[in-house]
Amino acid sequence: MWNIQRFEQIDSTNSALKRQRDASHGTVYVAKRQSSGRGRMGRSFVSPHGIYYSVLLRRSEPPTSLMHLTAMVAVAVRRALSKAADIQTDIKWVNDLLLGQKKLCGILVESEGDRYIIGIGINCNTDPDDLPEDVRQMAAVISCDEELLICELTRQLQDMDRCLLSHQKEWMQEYAAACVNIGKPVQILHGEERQQAVAVGVDENAALLVQESDGSIRSISSGEVSVRGLYGYI
Ligand code: BTN
Repeated sequence: MWNIQRFEQIDSTNSALKRQRDASHGTVYVAKRQSSGRGRMGRSFVSPHGIYYSVLLRRSEPPTSLMHLTAMVAVAVRRALSKAADIQTDIKWVNDLLLGQKKLCGILVESEGDRYIIGIGINCNTDPDDLPEDVRQMAAVISCDEELLICELTRQLQDMDRCLLSHQKEWMQEYAAACVNIGKPVQILHGEERQQAVAVGVDENAALLVQESDGSIRSISSGEVSVRGLYGYI
């Protein structure tokens, strides 16, 4: 059984779980607002009202065999949104969920030893006016029953935890089928450098396979780079 703790407001569900050194596998923190929500690459995650959900998983496998964890979380959240809110989302590599061309959900996975803190932020019943202009332009917001979605999210993440190694191949096939980048030009952003390529697939470890102008294919991992389409956010 996972243990769900709820907060009206918190600094960041990921930070709070991190501070709880003795928390056990399956401890969940869910908040309606965050004052210091955190995103990937040191960015902040504006959290005025939504579902801000973190779960702690303790996994003893070597980190190299869990490279696909974030991608499988994206599949689990996508399934939960489909079941609880009847919403079909796409995935932008590596772990943004899109509704139409806009970002509905961000995922931040942090690890320390055998502790993996999986953070999920969904713009659910968020007032777009509470988002800063630059975020609002790229953000999708849904209206739905928050309790139902939290419950389904927990079920799907539990399933993901069970399937993490045993069903990696199938889950990653589902991921690749939902990934909007595939078949499209991407810019690979590496610090100040920008390189153009075409995304051609995602492998079982969630690396993006890209074809470069000379026809060669290489795989890029999420820690290394982020990608942008040539025409904006996607
Ligand atoms: C991103 O899009 O860059 C990732 C955003 C992750 C946001 C979630 S909200 C719950 C958890 N707590 C945080 O501070 N961040 C994650």
